[in-house]
Amino acid sequence: MRRSYSEIPLDGLPDDPFEAFSRWLHEAHTNPLIVEANAMVLSTVDHAGEVTSRSVLLKDVSQHGFTFFTSYTSRKGRAIHSSPQVALLFPWYAMERQISISGIAEQVPRQESEDYFAGRPWASQIGAWASRQSERLESRDFLEDRWKAAAEKWPEGTSVPTPPEWGGYRVFPHTIEFWQGRFSRLHDRIRYERTNESTEWEINRYYP
Ligand SMILES: Cc1cc2nc3c(=O)[nH]c(=O)nc-3n(C[C@H](O)[C@H](O)[C@H](O)COP(=O)(O)O)c2cc1C
Repeated sequence: MRRSYSEIPLDGLPDDPFEAFSRWLHEAHTNPLIVEANAMVLSTVDHAGEVTSRSVLLKDVSQHGFTFFTSYTSRKGRAIHSSPQVALLFPWYAMERQISISGIAEQVPRQESEDYFAGRPWASQIGAWASRQSERLESRDFLEDRWKAAAEKWPEGTSVPTPPEWGGYRVFPHTIEFWQGRFSRLHDRIRYERTNESTEWEINRYYP
């Protein structure tokens, strides 16, 4: 499993980590070896200290943070409610790269969730009504029956309201670390760090 990493240095990343992130995301998006470049692993810790991870899709990034959409009553939603500190990981193995982010998750304004939901395909909108995300499910049939019931209630072509428990979270980062594999295990790690409310980023290099 051991392989040698390439020779792409991290020098030249911009001082603004969001700009650096956007540059790497674009490079991942345009790399044919990367599928779902905007998929990220979200880790949360619940009230009992149990840590869980799952993939979610990044839908927006700005100076305000990294946005994804989900169910507020899901396992992750409940964990964030009791502990808003989360981690995000973009593992782009085929590029010998990863970006890891730590920050605080908060719900996006309601209107933003509703605007995003309104733009989703009808079948996904119905799917959101059918799912009680993270709850135990008796059988697959039960889920499909719920989907059909929702589809009858809001037939294709009608406006589907946003489920009350469905919406976005924005992760306001305090560290964003860029990792690039390099020769002889002398990988590059560049971490942008700031204190919670600061807009000033410190940029440090770390041992690999
Ligand atoms: C590539 C990929 C993308 C996903 N994107 C999302 C997403 O954007 N939102 C979401 O709620 N679940 C998404 N899921 C499903 C989650 O990984 C997870 O199974 C679900 O949200 C329930 O997680 P929880 O029970 O820990 O809350 C995605 C799964 C995969 C494999």
